[in-house]
Amino acid sequence: MNQRLFSAVAPSGIIHLGNYLGAIKQWVELQNDYDCVFSIADYHAMTIFQPPQEFREKILEMAAIYLAAGIDPKKSIIFIQSNISAHAELTWILNTLVKVSELERMTQFKDKAKRFSQNINMGLFDYPVLMAADILLYKTKVVPVGEDQKQHLELCRTLAQRFNKVYGQTFIIPKTIIRKEGARIMGLDDPAKKMSKSAVNPYNYITLTDSSDLIKEKIKKAVTDSGKEIIFNLKEKPALSNLLTIYSLLSNKPIKEIVKNYQGKGYSQFKTDLAEVIINFLKPFQERFENFNKDQNYLKKVLNEGAQKAREIAEKTLEEVKEKIGLI
Ligand code: AMP
Ligand code: TRP
Repeated sequence: MNQRLFSAVAPSGIIHLGNYLGAIKQWVELQNDYDCVFSIADYHAMTIFQPPQEFREKILEMAAIYLAAGIDPKKSIIFIQSNISAHAELTWILNTLVKVSELERMTQFKDKAKRFSQNINMGLFDYPVLMAADILLYKTKVVPVGEDQKQHLELCRTLAQRFNKVYGQTFIIPKTIIRKEGARIMGLDDPAKKMSKSAVNPYNYITLTDSSDLIKEKIKKAVTDSGKEIIFNLKEKPALSNLLTIYSLLSNKPIKEIVKNYQGKGYSQFKTDLAEVIINFLKPFQERFENFNKDQNYLKKVLNEGAQKAREIAEKTLEEVKEKIGLI
């Protein structure tokens, strides 16, 4: 048996290139080396209100995205978080170990509380504890995520250690895998902010379902830095460096080689080609996505089978946890 790997994406809003390059792309590559469990974190998504009919569609779309990206249900478990009640139960148990002050320090909570100030609900505050439950239920060794989840993963490790100290060795302390390149894809409209699902300006991101024309337009409008030269320099040319990162990850060419190819050429040529690179990657992806998304019965079958396998693992851990605590 390989080591266990767990990760998830919340099916809220659009899924963009940052999500793909920061998270899902790595998952596909890690599938052969680990026992993988990939969740659709619907309970996390609802910490920001989701209209029910759209929510239902988004959850299944997320499954189609996983499959289109190359997650193989024969190798990996794919399941919907809310299908397994152990996630909510372990969250409650971990809630008794987490300090309010620890949750108050979470930068994502502080950001979201500011942005969604009309709905600072308890779930938004408790979000990292549910994440810890997700991970710990599967005795996870490694968790591949983008940079923005690092603080949540540290809290998860703290809670696992705390539980083990109070109740005896139970949880594995998971390791975070953050890839250097692609861990933080920045907004096309502002290289100081990350590409984000909840960005107000659609020119911040490219979604996995954007049309070719829209991609061309978005790349054309993407901000660039002063000067003309194509070079990679995060300090002096943050916007261009972000575009080079996207180019490199989608074309599987090293940044150095791309920079060399564009010596003496300007931003405009580079941008035209970058749009092509993105379109060439997304076109076949979108075809696969459409095919999976049309076949809702197949999606549900994959998710049901995934939930059965995941449930077995999760319930076993939960039993052990309850027993250690003294619950009857
Ligand atoms: P979220 O969009 O917050 O549900 O994130 C899903 C996954 O995508 C997580 O692993 C994030 O760390 C990753 N992610 C989100 N935004 C970015 C970004 N701009 N660059 C790289 N990874 C990202
Ligand atoms: N909160 C994560 C995000 O938005 C998604 C997520 C939920 C997750 N549970 C997880 C990621 C467990 C890793 C492990 O990115």
